[in-house]
Parts: sequence; structure tokens; C-alpha cells
Amino acid sequence: MRRPIVAGNWKMHGSRAENAALVEGILASWPTHAGDCVVCPPFVYLQELARILRGSPIQLGAQDTCAEPLGAFTGEVSAAMLRDVGCEYVIVGHSERRALYAEDDALVARKFAAAQGKGLIPILCVGETLAERDAGRTHEIVGRQLDAVLDLCGAAAFASAVLAYEPVWAIGTGRVASPEQAQDVHAFVRGRIAARDATIAGSVRILYGGSVKAGNARELFAMPDVDGGLIGGASLKAEEFVAILAAATA
Ligand code: PGA
Repeated sequence: MRRPIVAGNWKMHGSRAENAALVEGILASWPTHAGDCVVCPPFVYLQELARILRGSPIQLGAQDTCAEPLGAFTGEVSAAMLRDVGCEYVIVGHSERRALYAEDDALVARKFAAAQGKGLIPILCVGETLAERDAGRTHEIVGRQLDAVLDLCGAAAFASAVLAYEPVWAIGTGRVASPEQAQDVHAFVRGRIAARDATIAGSVRILYGGSVKAGNARELFAMPDVDGGLIGGASLKAEEFVAILAAATA
């Protein structure tokens, strides 16, 4: 039995006051929830949230990491720094990073390795665009994105990593994948890892992300290979996020 996990990707939203209120709201109506819960605020708020969340059931993650360990990389933040301020998770390969900041599969794989090397749990995002789906290339694209990490880090690396299938066409669009569409890709991803290591494949958690809301979470999480969610917009509203947390363990 895989332990469900729900992660909130706050993207470039929030302020010190809003973050504190959001977390307070989540904790105030904390559901009977046996899974893991992670919030991923912008870098500048990590340290303060680490302090606020200490002793709470909410864990802390970053939205990205530099692939390099240290040095002349103006504007970047290393995995060691993220660990230093209290992060346990880090998202790598989010489609916004891939599309808007030209991160390719090789760089994402190096970020994944850098994160694990410093004891962070990477949340590796994969997903196809609408054009790729319409062209029947979903498995090819997701397989390629996954293989870049499998080839660099090996299947064993997924013993302490989380995957997130996020179809680009579903992110922030309100157009959620159907449970069957999600299950198809999740099963494909698990099978791809199983081809290298069946035990690891059986234990790795695969999240679905893309327009998850309180109203559609339950049916998505009911699919056999969907182990939770990576939540954008709905993670900014305490009530919605708590309902999604509850759905993950229902
Ligand atoms: P969304 O974003 O839930 O707002 O669609 C998900 C994500 O980008 O992780």
C-alpha cells in the first residue's frame, strides 16, 4: 500500500501574511489524513515557513533547484541551501520550467540528481502538451522525460523520489484529465520503471497534477496508480486544499 501524498505548488503567489494565513487555515481544519502533505512556496518564504510549520504535519518543499552545487550562478539556489533552510522536497522539471525557462530533459535529470545528493526528495514532473497528445505521442514524450532520469540516476533512485504526471494542457486550464486518462499514463510510467526494477516501481508514488479541485480529486485518487496530487491553484485556498487532502485518504 503506497502512502498518499498531496503537494501544493504555490508557484509565484503569496506574501508573508498570506502564507501564514493559508497555513493556519489548512491546519485549523486538518482532516483525518494519514498521507503526506507538502507545501512548496517561493524560495524567499521557505525559511519562514520552515519555522511556522515546525512540529506540524505539513512538510516543506521548494519549486526548483539549481543543478550545480555552488559557485558563480547568479540568481540560483542550490539543493544544499534548500536543505539548510528546512526543505524536504523539491519539484524538478515542472512544465513551466521546461517551457518558459528552456529546461531540457538532461538538465532536469541533473537537478534530480543534485536534489537527491543533498537528501531532498525530488518530485519529478512529466507530461505532454496538447499537440503531443493529439498526435498520439503521450507515452513517447512521458517515456523520454522519465528515461532521462532513469538513465542518469538509475531505477533505484526512485526509492526516494516522487513522480508527478502533469499533462500541460490540464495545468491551470480548468481542463482536468479524466481518471481514465490519468490512470493510463500513470500505469505506463509505473511499467516503464518496472521494466528496470519491479520492486521500486511498486512502491514509487505517482501524483496527478493539472486542474485538481476538491470536486474532482476523489475520482482521480480512486484510480489504482494515482497516489495523490500536485496541486496548483487549488492549493492557495485552505478549504479546497483540505478537501483535496481528505480525498487522498478517503
Ligand atoms: P493547477 O497547477 O492545479 O493550477 O492546474 C498544477 C501544477 O502546475 O502543478
